[in-house]
Parts: sequence; C-alpha cells; structure tokens
Amino acid sequence: MEQKGRESWGTRFGFIMAAAGSAIGLGNIWRFPYLTGMNGGGAFIVIYLGCVLFVGLSIMTAELAIGRRTQLAAVGAYKAYNKGWSFAGVLGVLSGFFIMGFYPVVGGWSLAYIFKSFTGLLSNTGAIGDVFGAFIGDPVQPLIWMFLYMIINVVIVARGVHAGIELAGKILMPLLFGLLIIIILKGLTLPGASAGLSFLFVPDWSVVKGSTFLAALGQAFFSLSLGMGCMITYGSYLNKEEKLPNNALIVVSMDTLAAILAGVALFPPLFAFGMEPTAGPGLVFVVAPQIFAEMGGFGVLFSVLFFLALMIAALTSSVSLLEVVVAYLMDEKKIDRKKATYGTAVVMLVLCTLSSLSLGAMSGVTVFGVGAFDFFDILTDKIFLAIGGMLLAIFAGWFLKKEDLKDELTNGGTLSFGLFEVWYNLIKYVIPVLIGIVAAVGIVSIEQTSLMIFGILVIVVLAIFSKKL
Ligand code: TRP
Repeated sequence: MEQKGRESWGTRFGFIMAAAGSAIGLGNIWRFPYLTGMNGGGAFIVIYLGCVLFVGLSIMTAELAIGRRTQLAAVGAYKAYNKGWSFAGVLGVLSGFFIMGFYPVVGGWSLAYIFKSFTGLLSNTGAIGDVFGAFIGDPVQPLIWMFLYMIINVVIVARGVHAGIELAGKILMPLLFGLLIIIILKGLTLPGASAGLSFLFVPDWSVVKGSTFLAALGQAFFSLSLGMGCMITYGSYLNKEEKLPNNALIVVSMDTLAAILAGVALFPPLFAFGMEPTAGPGLVFVVAPQIFAEMGGFGVLFSVLFFLALMIAALTSSVSLLEVVVAYLMDEKKIDRKKATYGTAVVMLVLCTLSSLSLGAMSGVTVFGVGAFDFFDILTDKIFLAIGGMLLAIFAGWFLKKEDLKDELTNGGTLSFGLFEVWYNLIKYVIPVLIGIVAAVGIVSIEQTSLMIFGILVIVVLAIFSKKL
C-alpha cells in the first residue's frame, strides 16, 4: 500500500521532535497545571499517570502502527480496511476543527502576553487578574493576537511536512525544555516553595470524585494528541525502518515530563506566594505573571521566556491539528496542500472568533448552556477524544488481523517487541472496557448533560452514515 510521492519525515530526530511537538502544547503548560489545581493535586496526577501508562502509550503505539501500515491519514486509514469505519476517522477530523475552534484563542493570549510582559503587565501586582479578565473579554484585542497566531501556524503547515512542521519542531522543542528548566530553578529557590511540591506529589485521595477520572483520561488523550487520528497521520509519514514501540515510548515520556515540569515550574512559587491553586483556566495567565512580578529585577525576562515557551509549545501542537484536516483533504479529496491549508484555516478562524467573543461581548449566547469556547473544549476533551480512542482500540483489536499488527510493530519480524501480547490484550479487551466505564461514570457526573447527549448523538449519526462519508 506504499504510496508514491508521499511526503515523509527527513530524520528520526525530526519525527520525534515533530510528534513530541504535537503532544507537548497548551495541554501540558496551560491545561495540566490548572486541572491539577482544580482536581486536588497529587491524586489527580497519579490517576493521570495511570491513564498515560495503560491507555495513552498503547493507543499511541496503535495509531502510529495503523498510520504507517496504510500510509494514509485518519479517514483513509480506516476506510482502507473497512468502509463502515470511515466515521471514526471523520469524527477525528471534526475534533480537529473543534479543538482548533478554541486552541488558537489561547495561543493568541500567549503571544499577547510575551508583549504585555514588556509593557507594564508586571508593574501592578494587584491588578494582574483584572488585566487578564479584561483582556480576554475585550471584543477586539484577543482577536488580533489570535489572527497573528493563526498566520504563523498557516505558514508552517503550508510549507509541508519536512520544511515546515519538522523544522519548527527541531528548533523550538529543545528551546522549550531549556526555558522550563530555567524557570524551575528560579522558583525552587523561593522560601516556602516546598508546599507546592507536596501539593503535586503527596496525593490526597479524599478529593477524588467520579468526574476526576474522566478529567484525567480526557487530559491524557488531549495532551498526547490521541483519539483523533493525529498520530495516525504522523505515522503515515514515517519510514519502514523506524521502531514504532520505541518511538511511542519516547514521545509519551517527553510529553509527561513536560507536564510535570510545567507543574513544578508553577506550583512551588504559587504556594510560596500564598496563592490559590484552584484559579481555573486563567491560572497560568494570572498566577505566572504574579510570580514573575514578585521576583523583582529579572521578572520581566522570566515572564517573556515563559510566555514564549507557552506560545512555542502551542504552535507545534496546533500545527499538527491543522495538519490532520489538511492531510485528510489531500488524501481523500485530492486538494493540494496550499489550498487545503488556507481553506481550513479560514473555517477555523471563524470558529475561533466565536470562541473568543464568547468570553466577553457574546457571553450571553449559549448552546446547551455553554458559550462557544466551552462548547468546543468540553465536547472534544470530555467525549470525542476518549470515544475516538475507544473506537481506535476496538478497530485495531477486533477488525485488524493480529499478524498484521505484529508485522507492523516488529518491522516485518526483524525486531523484537517483547510486550506485544500485553499491548494487544490491552488494546483488544482492557482499554475499550476501561474507557467505556470511565466515560459513563464521568458523563453522568458532569453538569452539562444536554451537551454530552448532543455529543453522543453526533457520533451515532456519523456512524449511521459511515459508508457515505
Ligand atoms: N497535545 C496538544 C496539547 O497538549 C494538543 C493537540 C495537538 C491535540 N494535536 C492534537 C489534542 C490531537 C488532541 C488530538 O496541547
């Protein structure tokens, strides 16, 4: 099934940086800390690590294998085996649009905060929270930054797999890790910093609820870029010599490390300054500048570095989200890369504009009780990704031949993958059941019931029309 002329990664390092770049993003640095803060710290982290190890790593391996086997992006890969399964790929493309319906908004905030760090953001510590609230609710400012952010994004994807995505990942990812470490070293020297470390690493099980598990599972999918065909697409550009299980392990480890580093960068200073860990989505944008402001002289420098790191992380991720849709249009609709990129970006810009405005000027406009930003966020994070991952596991476990999977994961039997049986049984039996239970328990314990029912209906309708997709 090898396709002539398909683009591919230039080097192994390039692929790993691109895949890690996709995984490491706002999910790690913006969302992981605030979810950890809201879900009680250490206990959430332990559950999260369990989801990553038992579900995330296996699904990552499966997605890469299916992508490389078929040499096709998400929809095509499912279709190549079974037309009745096209819907699972299409659900992924839809998730791509939805995540890109809010992701660039937050990307734009980070871009804005790089510049705001210079222009007095840190000078009045009391007002940092108000500044953030006023900024994201403004009808014009965040839209301009989001637009700028999208332009950078589009330029990278339009340049293609090798010259665009891979190059960006290779330069920006190592820089990101360096920046986080500098920030951590600074934070840990503050008096009282150790309370933050206990919050992160000493679990308090009394705070765990049914919804905590879905939050952790959804976050694992979101953070590892799983459940929507992203790693299928990236796997399809991978050459036949690469060892898939090793690569999956490297990418998963890097992503997890980045999340933990972000937590260690943020919580010790947060506790040292006596702030609240439960601030929610504003956490990074409110607490981080506050921390930098209280650091004195070098604060501005650290603030600039931090938001630069956040923007870089976001960029290599949203590039991959855009790429899923673009690769689908190229493979299935035979549209050329540039046209596909520009067309998709325009639709995404419209969705993002609605999201951004839903936090201010249009806050009165709601669907199923939530504004556009939350609509896209909750629908993908709480249902589509986890169900997408469950569908992928069922597909791989029950509809693909075991020998084919083994052949792909061992490069035609030339290398050993000792854990193959463990992996296979996880994918075939354990993961579908586990996701089913966590999703059911989580969905009933969530406030937005009508939104959840709507999401499930969308999946059912797609499944019914699968053969036409
Ligand atoms: N993983 C990215 C983050 O943590 C976001 C992302 C990129 C993503 N591609 C994805 C999430 C595909 C789900 C699916 O910020």
